Amino acid sequence: MSGNGKHDSWSAGRSYDHYMGRWSRLIAREFVSWLNAPLDADWADIGCGTGALTETILDMAKPKSVVGLDLSEGFVMHAREAITDERARFEVGSAQDLPLPDNTIDVSTSALALNFVPDKLQALAELRRITRPGGTISFYVWDYPGGGMGFIDAFWKAAASIDPAAEDLDEALRFPFCTPEGLQTLCTEAQLPGASIHALEVDTVFPGFEEFWHPFTLGAGPAPGYCMNLTEEKRDELKAKLRDQLDTGGEIRLPARAFAVRYQQP
Ligand SMILES: C[S@@+](CC[C@H](N)C(=O)[O-])C[C@H]1O[C@@H](n2cnc3c(N)ncnc32)[C@H](O)[C@@H]1O
Repeated sequence: MSGNGKHDSWSAGRSYDHYMGRWSRLIAREFVSWLNAPLDADWADIGCGTGALTETILDMAKPKSVVGLDLSEGFVMHAREAITDERARFEVGSAQDLPLPDNTIDVSTSALALNFVPDKLQALAELRRITRPGGTISFYVWDYPGGGMGFIDAFWKAAASIDPAAEDLDEALRFPFCTPEGLQTLCTEAQLPGASIHALEVDTVFPGFEEFWHPFTLGAGPAPGYCMNLTEEKRDELKAKLRDQLDTGGEIRLPARAFAVRYQQP
């Protein structure tokens, strides 16, 4: 991959879980609770990663089945090993060309992934195609433009202050549609008129600065991918910058906000 997505490395499940999965699990609970989908439904979780949302659906929504799909073979393998519930299965596949038949899913969803899909309209057309009449189409994305993913926002602002090239990589600039207005426009263009949009909020809490910093050194995701491509000297400079800003000797607590979308098929 080249351009501002060149550090989007999605493969190592354990590293991803430590960097992001533990927070996406928290927001997934808020989402499933808000969605309030019917029980005994067939679900699809597109861009399922290591299965944070799939696991939450199994835990909270009493589904009949959940199929998790992701482009990353590494994540799919991780999810298969970690989630052995017989109602769930995991497949490698692209959000733009889902390997699922028409009108077979009651609740199609996607967590924190749509912004990484090159053709979002095609991905949403695929969700419409697989979802049964009367079914639910839903997804959520971090509020990157509003600095709503606090620890990632802090990382990119510090990175840009020592490396101008980092500015273009900041997800706040890469994903400007991740606002209520941007999502409403996207939904209109994707023939999901009048979709509901709702803010989901949790806190990300790190016991201390080292625990805040460590996940960025694991290489899974855009910011860690960028971090591990820096020279050691530049990485130390970035760490020192963040320490200056955030280290008060105790817990670091930063807010995380996502915007969720829900649409009912006619
Ligand atoms: C931030 S992760 C979210 C993972 C998971 N849904 C969660 O909530 O933790 C983004 C995921 O989107 C996947 N992804 C990116 N582009 C994709 C595409 N075109 N089709 C399917 N999955 C994609 C990545 O492999 C990655 O697992």
